Amino acid sequence: MAFPSAPSALWIVSLLTVLFTAAVHSNIFNDDDPLQPVTSDETVSVGGTVTLTCRVAESDNSSLQWSNPAQQTLYFGEKRALRDIRIQLHRSTPMELSITISDVQLSDEGEYTCSIFTMPVRTARATVTVLGVPGNPHISGFENPVRDGETVTLTCTSTGSKPPAKLRWYKGTEQVEGRDDLVVQDDPTFNVSSKLTLEVNAGDDNIPIVCAVDHPSLAPGDKRSEQALRVLYSPEVYISPGEMMPIEGQKFSLRCLGKGNPEPTDYSWVRKDGELPPLSKADSAVLSFLMLNKSDNGVYVCHADNGIGKGMGEYTLQVQDTTAMSTSSGVDHAVIGGVVAVIVFILLCLLIVLGRYLIRHKGTYLTHEAKGSDDAPDADTAIINAEGGHSGAEDKKEQKTQRSRGQEGVFHLDGGQSGGGNERGGSFKRCG
Ligand SMILES: *[C@@H]1O[C@H](CO)[C@@H](O)[C@H](O)[C@H]1NC(C)=O
Ligand SMILES: *[C@@H]1O[C@H](CO)[C@@H](O)[C@H](O)[C@H]1NC(C)=O
Ligand SMILES: *[C@@H]1O[C@H](CO)[C@@H](O)[C@H](O)[C@H]1NC(C)=O
Repeated sequence: MAFPSAPSALWIVSLLTVLFTAAVHSNIFNDDDPLQPVTSDETVSVGGTVTLTCRVAESDNSSLQWSNPAQQTLYFGEKRALRDIRIQLHRSTPMELSITISDVQLSDEGEYTCSIFTMPVRTARATVTVLGVPGNPHISGFENPVRDGETVTLTCTSTGSKPPAKLRWYKGTEQVEGRDDLVVQDDPTFNVSSKLTLEVNAGDDNIPIVCAVDHPSLAPGDKRSEQALRVLYSPEVYISPGEMMPIEGQKFSLRCLGKGNPEPTDYSWVRKDGELPPLSKADSAVLSFLMLNKSDNGVYVCHADNGIGKGMGEYTLQVQDTTAMSTSSGVDHAVIGGVVAVIVFILLCLLIVLGRYLIRHKGTYLTHEAKGSDDAPDADTAIINAEGGHSGAEDKKEQKTQRSRGQEGVFHLDGGQSGGGNERGGSFKRCG
């Protein structure tokens, strides 16, 4: 094999580094010494439970011991040394000493030591890292509704995280970028805050703004806080007619619908090219006509005001003659046309099926005719046979029996034909 190239040499070096680091971390100082205790580093959230395990590969029955970062002995073999009910024996054998610490506090963090009292004493260390669980985030800075087009700045804060938590903002379901988190040390944990500035518009009314906390001690979405935006905006106005078809001499009304925040309460009606008709009555959002007249034709305008702004909508009134009712006959024509089309389609389908049936049966008839003439000894008999005469009947019968014995292919062919018939049945169904 050739000399390793520079990158692969580098790779080997880094692999060795990783292995060495791993070895140091798991405190394997001497692989060959079976009496050397082995431990592992642990990470636990505040309030959680951590298990510290110390093992030896071989035992000379010397006692194992765990002590805390303050060098106090916790357990000596299975004997409890420190009065702390949070610390319990998990397993004690000549080869293993495991203890658990429940309701872990930040003050429990540090380097724990496992010793075995051989000659000389052998030790291994385990680092316990305690995560400070961030508190629920809190959104502030949004006390009152804001007007369409204004900006709002929200602040999200979360306290008690270690290491510092990350804050994320969402507008509805879409993530939005806030300013960089501000981290303040509140020893031994951190207070984190983030600001989000938004320019709001009418469409943002009632959209939830979410602040979520990202932290190794939490599952995503565990801790979040939500605040709905409230945006004030001037009304958008639509006019809805009481009837789709305003007919001369009948009653009619227009309703003004103003969509705004707050809901508009102040409505007014005007006619674009003159006075409102004498037989009409404007009552807030509704304009009613007691009896429509062609002279009412024109453009009607509704103004809605919600204190934030005004909106307006228009409706063009086009009064129909009573004779305009005849448009309904147009509908009848359409229905008749549709029915005729369906009937023609069905007839076409029937015609196709009938056509195929006739072609098949004509084929059979021709075969019989030809058979009759083939069987005949001479032309005259052939004519008689073809015309259905009885003179060749005996011969034909015999021949048929022979065929049924010798030519099974005929029957297969028949089977195939009946299969074809089914297929046609299928196509007929599709046609219908
Ligand atoms: C350890 O103790 C057990 C029983 O107490 C004994 O059977 C065993 O031989 C001892 N081992 C050593 C290495 O002394
Ligand atoms: C962190 O937040 C807590 C709770 O709001 C507060 O009491 C404390 O003063 C804050 N610490 C710092 C350093 O701001
Ligand atoms: C419509 O109004 C005109 C006068 O303004 C009146 O002569 C006519 O009779 C009215 N038509 C109907 C159907 O009321």
